[in-house]
Amino acid sequence: MRIGVVNGPNLNLLGVREPEVYGRGTFAELESYVGEYVHAAGDEMRFSQWNSEGGVIDELHALRTWAGGVVINPAAFTHYSYAVRDAIAAIGIPVVEVHLSDISKREPAFRKISVTADVCVAQIMGLGFDSYLRGIDALRAHVQE
Ligand code: DQA
Repeated sequence: MRIGVVNGPNLNLLGVREPEVYGRGTFAELESYVGEYVHAAGDEMRFSQWNSEGGVIDELHALRTWAGGVVINPAAFTHYSYAVRDAIAAIGIPVVEVHLSDISKREPAFRKISVTADVCVAQIMGLGFDSYLRGIDALRAHVQE
């Protein structure tokens, strides 16, 4: 299967950005970690990061015809972007939402809200880099159903 992994704003700063929340691993390390897992099973990966809402949406549109499914960490767009939500609903391939931190337990209250989760086939959070691996697992399981 071809898997798109889409990352939203500020995730390029992983490792330096609030390490007590997001850990010390860098974005490049995240890409290698997820890539190894995807490739070990013979799958292909297209891994990207976007600081703009339009970038995330354009990438989801492009993945519509390239990928069998998507793992997305929409980052802050999770909490308010109806445009990203609509793009996920529009592309017609399964999408799994992942977060490094457990947004259900975080303050301020806006972080507990996801406007994107209910158009995704699963939501995985709070496992650091492993949230992405469990997201890939959920995507594979969904596709095999
Ligand atoms: C995040 C959680 C979001 O609330 C935050 O805006 C992020 C990262 C996470 O992976 O834990 O940028 O999506």
